[in-house]
Amino acid sequence: MSKTSNINRVDGFAKVTGSATYSAEYKTQGVAYACLVGSTIAKGRIKAIDTKKAEWAPGVLTVITHLNVDKPAGYDKPKDKSNLGQPLPIFKDNTVLYYDQPIALVIADTFERMQYAASLIKAEYLKEEHTTDLHKAKDKEKKIDTDKGNDYHRGVEDGYKNADVVIEHEYTIPTEVHNPMELANIIAKWDGNKPSLFTKSQGVEGTRKSVAGVFGIPIEDVSVNSEYLGGAFGMGLHTWPYEIAALIGAKKINRPVKLVLHREQMFTNVGFRPYTIQKMGLGATKDGKLTGLTHEAVAMTSSYEDFMEGTVNMSRFIYDCANVSTRYRIVPLDTCTPIWMRGPGEATGSFALESAMDELAHKLDMDPIEFRKRNYAEKDLEQNKPWSSKFLLECYEAGMERIGWKNRKNKPGSVREGEWLVGYGMGTGTFGSYRNPTTVKAKFLLDGTLVLQCSVNDMGPGTATMMTAIGAEITGIPPENIVIEMGKSGLPKGPTQGGSATTSSVGSAVHDACNLLISKALGLATENQNFKNTPISDLAFANGSISSVKGAAKKVSLVSLLNDNKLEELVAEKESKGSEEAKKYSIYSFSVHFVKVLVNPNLGKIRIAHVVSCADIGTVINEKTSAGQMFGGAVGGIGMGLMEALEIDHRFGRPINNNFADYHVPVNADIEKQEVFFVNKKDPISNPMGTKGLGETALVGMAPAIANAVFNATGKRVRDLPITLDKILEPSTAKV
Ligand code: MOS
Repeated sequence: MSKTSNINRVDGFAKVTGSATYSAEYKTQGVAYACLVGSTIAKGRIKAIDTKKAEWAPGVLTVITHLNVDKPAGYDKPKDKSNLGQPLPIFKDNTVLYYDQPIALVIADTFERMQYAASLIKAEYLKEEHTTDLHKAKDKEKKIDTDKGNDYHRGVEDGYKNADVVIEHEYTIPTEVHNPMELANIIAKWDGNKPSLFTKSQGVEGTRKSVAGVFGIPIEDVSVNSEYLGGAFGMGLHTWPYEIAALIGAKKINRPVKLVLHREQMFTNVGFRPYTIQKMGLGATKDGKLTGLTHEAVAMTSSYEDFMEGTVNMSRFIYDCANVSTRYRIVPLDTCTPIWMRGPGEATGSFALESAMDELAHKLDMDPIEFRKRNYAEKDLEQNKPWSSKFLLECYEAGMERIGWKNRKNKPGSVREGEWLVGYGMGTGTFGSYRNPTTVKAKFLLDGTLVLQCSVNDMGPGTATMMTAIGAEITGIPPENIVIEMGKSGLPKGPTQGGSATTSSVGSAVHDACNLLISKALGLATENQNFKNTPISDLAFANGSISSVKGAAKKVSLVSLLNDNKLEELVAEKESKGSEEAKKYSIYSFSVHFVKVLVNPNLGKIRIAHVVSCADIGTVINEKTSAGQMFGGAVGGIGMGLMEALEIDHRFGRPINNNFADYHVPVNADIEKQEVFFVNKKDPISNPMGTKGLGETALVGMAPAIANAVFNATGKRVRDLPITLDKILEPSTAKV
């Protein structure tokens, strides 16, 4: 990937000029406006709900509650969770399972009338005792018998306890919310019994399946359009109750319905990274060989769904260690179900693991990088497989150089810049590199355009740009002549955009479809007057034209080929999926984040002075969008490390800081200097381009890098995220 490795984001112009149409922006004839009214208790039953005033308010078309809902057919079918996508059947009965759970849908002819009518709804409840505090509910923990839930042991169980040097600590991360700029939104409409949704989804096919399950209709009857997304970070991986509510409403009034969540509802109704308590036990020899590692996690879920993620998984393979134990439990709380959030599982797990590694390195009086190098895993000991490729050491080297690691002193608090204490820290990240079956259709048209079609979404990482670059690279057709059609049902089936798998999955399918297009073109050329009687093996395809390798000067462009054959278009469609060979390898991306912090010991203020994020993601398809992903992921890690926490008032089970004034995220002023480095070496196994995943490793390892840097600056070890200034000033946190 060379000529095209730096093309501009192909949807950039549309996005900055406003011509990109997001779901709620579709002009829809006769659209009505809807909103959800949420419960004001966290658990119990609705005793009475007064909707009369709202129904009589001007412009109101309907008010729907559990009392008058036409229940979707799927509600009565045996519960098939995988089919429902979201097992909270909205308005099914009078049960309240979490604070702000939708209890009524109000639809009116204008936005203002809808808002006013919603304010008139009053409910009475039969309250029950709720639990939203994970620390108080740990006795309700349960072990789920799945790959993620099962205990894992290699060597001696809890073998770390027998080591010469041992550390044992507990780490917590709070609930964090996705809150992309674009609010969750939908325009729902029905054509007879066939729904169509303009909605914020990371997976067109997944949304179709969920909606089909809820309404008991064939998947083919559901159309979904989610062409542009203003960020999602994982919240678009589920079909949420608001989407079903809008569909129920649109069906009832036989009109299209638009529903956009309020910002406050983004904190309560569309998932979040789960609050998680982790215990680490690490043991090593005096010269720094890791001999035992135990990683235990207890995470929240909801009362109605078991949500799990790979929180402890990284600990099983990232270091060379003979005795490894992991345990993972979940605790049902009275909240909405959590959902994957960028670097799901590993971002949480890496905070505990990489903090603990730093703590053990400190106890051994060893440089943290040196400690990691001594425990470098030459192969994946969990799966007992070789790595497909691993350039983690290159990431360490590049980061040390760029951050100025040589200026770091092992003894905390020993480097100063004026009144600021200086600290250096690092954290390792990783994420599985997956490839999901994907079909892409490549169409070459008479006007010289190459159209690439796939139903996959692009929530912002640059999927359309990647597809363009790969298509251009293979066919030689210039990027400006390539048109991407994506994010809609009816197109060839793409995967859900998630798990850092999109480039590997969709890129491979673009690769395969374009190559099929070329071989079809060559076949056509040898069947007719162009290269009649020339064996295909004597033909070459380059820069959009066919020529003979035998020296004849004749060159036939794809356009002339179509003209000569009186064709309107040449089409190639192919499903692409992972190879059997790839299953013999362990395929992971790796990253290392380096951070230099400045801490004011009198004020507790932490400044992120310099961030260097280095990654082995295989081949880099596009330097700009990849760097963008890495910058964004690292900034997400700064939020996780220093700012983000959804605070719950447990007396009422409701969030306190459900707005952007109180829920802090980093802004430009919070980052002084940020760099990205990619090893950019092709993975020989992963897929035809040699790419691995990027989106998640961009965040995994960042929060512990900050915690480790803060420790190096101050000698204060903060094990409860976020690292706010009170924790720096609080004397009792200084126990190390
Ligand atoms: Mo990502 S958490 O797979 O959107």
